[in-house]
Amino acid sequence: MGTDKQFKPKIFTNTDIPSDYIFRRCTSKDLDGVIEVNEAELPEDYPYFFYKSILDHYPESFLVALERNNLNNVVGYVMWRIEKTPSLSNLKLDRKGHLVSIAVSEEHRRKKIATVLLNKSIPAIRKHGISSYVLEVRISNYSAIELYKKLNFKIEKIKENYYRDGENAYYMVKEFK
Ligand code: COA
Repeated sequence: MGTDKQFKPKIFTNTDIPSDYIFRRCTSKDLDGVIEVNEAELPEDYPYFFYKSILDHYPESFLVALERNNLNNVVGYVMWRIEKTPSLSNLKLDRKGHLVSIAVSEEHRRKKIATVLLNKSIPAIRKHGISSYVLEVRISNYSAIELYKKLNFKIEKIKENYYRDGENAYYMVKEFK
């Protein structure tokens, strides 16, 4: 028999991981759920083959969050890819980890799901020999900007007219410590 204390619902563990959810690598079976979250939460939609291609190339940093008591329900995802740009200091290509997309279903927000998805995927994409992590975010997307700032991303510049509807993006960068 346990004590009352043992039976109290516990939302966070001492490592700040919300225990109502599990976090794991995405599989092709999860892609429909990922697309559903993306289409509900973001104006940027991608065709199925785009998700599949990211999954095939960067599976270790394509993560999903699932409800612990309903493991078929994808409530959040994160996906990254590698961006190669000409280096300013030599003739080699500079490799950066580019956050392609992250979203959490509205009813599951503010429970640190995005924080865990990022904290778990960042070390995974780092293994590709990158020099920094980069992302674009709508300048009106206050919640996402706050999330990224909390994880030490800094606004480097504005990309004008970046989105199809004409909105500007902040280009945010997180350097290695
Ligand atoms: N207002 C202000 N700050 C917010 C916020 C909000 N609505 N949502 C998140 N944050 C900041 C806070 O600093 C928060 O820490 P706190 O709760 O201790 O104050 C921190 O981010 C971590 O929040 P977390 O619970 O991990 O985020 P989340 O799981 O709710 O997901 C988003 C955050 C941005 C992914 C989610 O709001 C979302 O899916 N939005 C729609 C899709 C989107 O905009 N994706 C980003 C595209 S670039």
